[in-house]
Amino acid sequence: MTRPLLGAMRTHACGSLRAGDAGTEVRLAGWVARRRDHGGVAFLDLRDASGVVQVVVRPDEAPAAAAIRTEDCVRVAGTVRARPAGNENPELPTGEVEVAADAVEVLAPSETPPFPLEGRTDADETLRLQYRYLDLRRPATRRGLELRAAANATLRRVLGDRGFLEVETPYLTKSTPEGARDFLVTTHLAPGQFYALPQSPQLFKQLLMVAGVERYYQIVRCFRDEALRADRQPEFTQLDLELSFLDEEDVYALGEELMAAVWQDVLGADLEIPFTRLTHAEAMRRFGTDKPDLRYGMELVDLAQVFEGGGVRVFASALEAGGAVLALRVEGGAELTRKQLDALTEQARARGAKGLAWVAVEALDLRSPLDKFFSDAERDGLRQATGAQPGDLLLLAADRTPVAQTVLGDLRVRLAAERGLVPEGQWAFCWVTEFPMFEWDEQAGRWDPAHHPFTAPAPKWADTFMEAPEEATARAYDLVLNGYELGSGSIRIHRADVQRRVFDALGISPKEAEDRFGFFLRGLAYGAPPHGGFAFGLDRLYMLLAGTPSIRDVITFPKTQSGADPLTGAPTPIPADQLAEVRLRPLDPPAKPGDRG
Ligand code: AMO
Ligand code: AMP
Repeated sequence: MTRPLLGAMRTHACGSLRAGDAGTEVRLAGWVARRRDHGGVAFLDLRDASGVVQVVVRPDEAPAAAAIRTEDCVRVAGTVRARPAGNENPELPTGEVEVAADAVEVLAPSETPPFPLEGRTDADETLRLQYRYLDLRRPATRRGLELRAAANATLRRVLGDRGFLEVETPYLTKSTPEGARDFLVTTHLAPGQFYALPQSPQLFKQLLMVAGVERYYQIVRCFRDEALRADRQPEFTQLDLELSFLDEEDVYALGEELMAAVWQDVLGADLEIPFTRLTHAEAMRRFGTDKPDLRYGMELVDLAQVFEGGGVRVFASALEAGGAVLALRVEGGAELTRKQLDALTEQARARGAKGLAWVAVEALDLRSPLDKFFSDAERDGLRQATGAQPGDLLLLAADRTPVAQTVLGDLRVRLAAERGLVPEGQWAFCWVTEFPMFEWDEQAGRWDPAHHPFTAPAPKWADTFMEAPEEATARAYDLVLNGYELGSGSIRIHRADVQRRVFDALGISPKEAEDRFGFFLRGLAYGAPPHGGFAFGLDRLYMLLAGTPSIRDVITFPKTQSGADPLTGAPTPIPADQLAEVRLRPLDPPAKPGDRG
């Protein structure tokens, strides 16, 4: 049991009162959630951080009550009593009692809130974020804060038990490459020079392993100037950890222990461990994504055998070129209209597909724009390979293999959601292992690290990754939950010579490596232990625990999709004299005329 510190102004927390408290004299403080008037009596729902209790005020007993409005901050002195029979409210933990007020005092009046705080709100999110301090008075929003705190307490407890040291690393630092743009920070001490806010503490945690810390963790803010989405914010929180003398199995076991403890403490749920494991190649092959949602089937089907050398030109030529013909079976999908099918094709094209073919399966025939090109053997093969039944729809993509996979992988997620095929209340965790070491950057014409450049090659590629960069795999893994990437990590390179060869493969010259990472490479030269680790995206974890669709719901003061903070108005132009101190001058006029600066 917790014992909240109430402060001298009150004796009880509103939400704590129960039938057993009847007869007790109490002093309470909080906000007026609702006010109703009945025959000269005012009923106030008094809300504080613990919950709500009904307060009954006779205006003659408490003259101040006459002027009380919702969201005023008030204090109340009175006596707890059982509610009259029939007036109990089973929805409220305090629903059996009410407080008969002797005195009510307004501590601070409130203006009328710009949106209702009681019940579900459909107020515009930007407005709610502008008045986030009011939005946070709503119990539903407040629960996000409570959930974060509870989960963090569990994570700290488990890691403490396991001998992990909580260590802080700098925010004013040098670029850490995690694939996004850096946020830059000026200083008057060195005009024209910049700190970068860390995209992650990656290099510091590795240097802590060189320092002999062995087991490090940190609940840490990371900063990435990248395109935002429902599950991406420019600043977000990681549970970052690193350990020495380990292998992948240690990370998997620790990750499972942490998740099981959080699910137990926060939701009272038992997770099934160990989690499923899939190699990256298998995840792509079966689900068309590196973050498969395993709550439902709809696995991709390879149709190479069916269409090889056949009469459908697009299929045969994709296969001749070394690509794939893949199918997604949509149960009962034959009912989809032309318009719906066009929308799916549009999505496929937007994802880079050359096209998308559809086949509606009927009892005897197939209905499809391509049907006239199919042989009887192909019609049979299609039914057999996919297991399609009358009423089903098949979506077919012929393309370079990764394109065909991701296009159908995206459609799988969309159609499962739209057609209600995603079971509720299931937690489908999986480790995705053996990621590729590199990915080809078409625009830049070079290999990029698939995770980050400090990731060790898989043992069988240790000496040869440069010879076949497109095939080489890394000791990198992700944790996926219900189709979300919850975290990533890897076993690191702990030898300076290997690190230099990886930089070389990435087209980073020795000079550039020295400029960007010299401090780190020097560290590796002093007996760096074998080490590796992981980082959980905690906002995503809280979002999934809370069952909300956006990480903004579980971030106390989040930014909008365009990176703006409606509360403070950040980002804003900076006055010219402040810029001059750090010897900066904007190239363009401020984006919003009229703003200061
Ligand atoms: P990575 O870049 O994969 O790995 O990040 C780890 C996890 O952080 C979360 N995440 C985000 N959450 C919200 N908003 C964002 N913009 C955002 N970007 C990432 C994701 C992701 O899985 N240093 C490595 C970890 C390591 O190798 O130990 C790293 O940062 O859930
Ligand atoms: P087209 O020849 O482009 O008119 O395409 C004929 C049919 O084949 C249409 O249904 C297209 O959507 C489909 N199609 C074209 N290219 C592909 C492809 N690469 N994969 C799957 N279907 C395709």
